[in-house]
Amino acid sequence: MNSRTLQEFTPVKLADRQAPKLSVENLSKSYPVRGDRHLTVLENINLEIFPREFTCLVGASGCGKSTLLNIIAGLTPPSTGKVLVDGRSVTGKPGSDRGMVFQGYTLYPWLTVAQNIAFGLQFQHMSKSEQRDKVSYFLNVVGLEKFANSYPKQLSGGMKQRVAIARALANEPAVLLMDEPFGALDAQTKEQMQEFLLELWSKTHVTVLMITHDVEEAIYLSQRIYVLSCRPGRVKSEITIDLPEHRELDIKLAPEFVAIKRQVLQLMRQE
Ligand SMILES: Nc1ncnc2c1ncn2[C@@H]1O[C@H](COP(=O)(O)OP(=O)(O)O)[C@@H](O)[C@H]1O
Ligand SMILES: [Mg+2]
Repeated sequence: MNSRTLQEFTPVKLADRQAPKLSVENLSKSYPVRGDRHLTVLENINLEIFPREFTCLVGASGCGKSTLLNIIAGLTPPSTGKVLVDGRSVTGKPGSDRGMVFQGYTLYPWLTVAQNIAFGLQFQHMSKSEQRDKVSYFLNVVGLEKFANSYPKQLSGGMKQRVAIARALANEPAVLLMDEPFGALDAQTKEQMQEFLLELWSKTHVTVLMITHDVEEAIYLSQRIYVLSCRPGRVKSEITIDLPEHRELDIKLAPEFVAIKRQVLQLMRQE
């Protein structure tokens, strides 16, 4: 991705937009089970996502990560507590302020790449030419200009997720929410996508909250990590990652990286 090209395009004020902070306050979620009993999936979750930061939430499978992200997105109601964007309580439907990328491929198979990216834009008051500008800008951001007229089935898994990320970004979300977006990819593609995502973040500085069970992925991408405990899911620890902002893939082998990894793994093993 070429930064000059990106600056030239800038019709979208993503790069210089002051994204609101997102916070989760005293949030719990339980589901009714047999009889009048309840299963508590999340208990008293408190966390803060700071503007322009890349934050990861790590935790083992089944500890409630997706449930939490779905609540933040507005897809599931919390049992108690609230989600605030820029200090304002958000309730109900997913808003354009919270763009979501899921683990599975969620592109519309009958739409082209460009039409998929444009999908949310038709609901905004925006002229056709503005929509076209935005779509070509984000095709460029994710490096898929040549595939504008391809259909999802013609793309690899990594390319599909790049389209899904472009589609979420096109709505200029205050916070980009991602639920294990690379979970379905092979190891090599996954590393390429991590590199791609970090480059994208350092160009746009969009505020990101990503969920992963992959500790290495979390450390490589983040400024801040929240470690979630299991049954019930609680925030066990908050770790700030003091690695340089510009990171190459082989930073994963650096002693300071390995030390953070050991610390996070120990926290998760205590479960
Ligand atoms: N609609 C539901 N009804 C009852 N239990 C649920 C429901 N959704 C999720 N759960 C339970 O919540 C727990 C956490 O699930 P999930 O959030 O998907 O975890 P993760 O994403 O960390 O793997 C699981 O034990 C799951 O069975
Ligand atoms: Mg999940």
